[in-house]
Amino acid sequence: MVALLLGIVLGLVVVCGGLLRWNEVRYRKKGLPPGTMGWPLIGENFEFLKQGPSFMKNQRARFGNLFRTHIFGCPTVICMDAELNRYIMMNESKGLVPGYPQSMLDIMGKWNIAAVHGPQHKTMRSAMLALISPTAIRDQLLPKIDDFMRSYLCNWNRKVIDIHEESKELWLHSALKMIANVETGPMAKILKTETMKLLEGTLSLPINFPGTSYSRGIQARKKLVSLLENLIAERRASSTAQFDMLDSLLRKDDTTKPDLNDEQIIDLVLTLIYSGFETVSTTIMMTVKYLHDDPKALEELRNEHFAIKKRKTPSDALDWNDYKSMAFTRAVIFETLRLATVVNGVLRKTTEDLNMEGFVIPKGWKIYVYGREYNYDPFVYPEPFKFNPWRYMHNNLESHQNFTQFGGGGRLCPGKELGIVEVSVFLHHFATKYSWKEVGENKLVKFPRVEAPNGLHIHVADLIG
Ligand code: HEM
Repeated sequence: MVALLLGIVLGLVVVCGGLLRWNEVRYRKKGLPPGTMGWPLIGENFEFLKQGPSFMKNQRARFGNLFRTHIFGCPTVICMDAELNRYIMMNESKGLVPGYPQSMLDIMGKWNIAAVHGPQHKTMRSAMLALISPTAIRDQLLPKIDDFMRSYLCNWNRKVIDIHEESKELWLHSALKMIANVETGPMAKILKTETMKLLEGTLSLPINFPGTSYSRGIQARKKLVSLLENLIAERRASSTAQFDMLDSLLRKDDTTKPDLNDEQIIDLVLTLIYSGFETVSTTIMMTVKYLHDDPKALEELRNEHFAIKKRKTPSDALDWNDYKSMAFTRAVIFETLRLATVVNGVLRKTTEDLNMEGFVIPKGWKIYVYGREYNYDPFVYPEPFKFNPWRYMHNNLESHQNFTQFGGGGRLCPGKELGIVEVSVFLHHFATKYSWKEVGENKLVKFPRVEAPNGLHIHVADLIG
């Protein structure tokens, strides 16, 4: 019996060793960057997800700043060289296009910004920029966000809030108000439910079988498209102006912005909701966490916001000058993005064989422009693991070449300012109205995404009285 078991184990070891070796030999082409490819099909996904940043650091120690692996179901080159990463982000026209997963492309639609290149990308990007430009924020979006945050946050006193969940709702409702003046009621409810399914679907394996997240995502897309089509038809039939993004997209009198067809408008609206969802909500959650743990930073932030309140009556909306005077708040947001690494990097895909640093990256391979490590560079950020927003007050770190939290090149985040406004206005109302204490066991996962799997619970109480 023992001999049989030993035989089976030995057999398994030989088969596994053979498979690993075969997979390495398969990729041993001349000129590829060094690295390991793991198991056939599965690659090194397991090690990547389990070890996270340590996997990246260990491989870099073995192979250097540019190495090959097999993750996200695809042969991939990881680039941890700051200069080369900048080059990759700046050179889309040389065959370095976005490389996001198929599930995302299927569910977000063929006009979603990540799916289009060249002139089509230019059209969709300028339409997006027109909607969320600093002027649009100043004149239309900021008053809406301010009004929304006031009412959303008004009754949190003496409640236990899961800020992980609540920050997602916050973004979603605020986005729906900006896009189509939808706030509450059955329409908001359906849009929210379907958008959540859509978002989950984009992060799943593209298996279109009833019950899978992917299939639910595809169904959710169909419902959202139909809802938006109806909304567009209603708007066309009505003579009342709504002063929201949808109205602006449907108006044909402005020759400075691209004229989109309905399919493009719908994909643009979905992209807008999608792009801010995880980034803005995670940033809100983590600012709440870091400010909770650092009373000095919270005090300084509150002073900044009380000074703004002093200049206004309680019902006055925040305006552009108020926002521009929130220097410490901006520093808190940047420090949060850096310390938590809300975005680890961006994905690209090669459209042809490319030469890079003396290596060949074959056509169709992914490139993971991995920026996490420079967030903790002690030469740029002394005591890199300390939450220290003041570091952004004295140095112009926002313009530092390693500041890639919002990407770079032709795909630099067009929603950067809108995202910062959203978090700043939240902090203005939240921190001046309430104090908060973390309650219960709150676990935070930092990789591959920042999340609180069981929620991040805080007990909220009125600051005064
Ligand atoms: C804290 C908030 C945010 C962070 C950290 C962030 C980060 C990023 C990053 C790293 C990219 C580059 C992706 C790439 O190169 O492949 C990006 C692109 C993009 N972001 Fe943001 N983002 C934020 C908020 C927003 C918001 C609020 C919106 C829109 C309402 C938005 C819309 C977009 C769009 C449309 C793109 C694609 C641009 C293109 O491909 O031309 N983002 N963002």
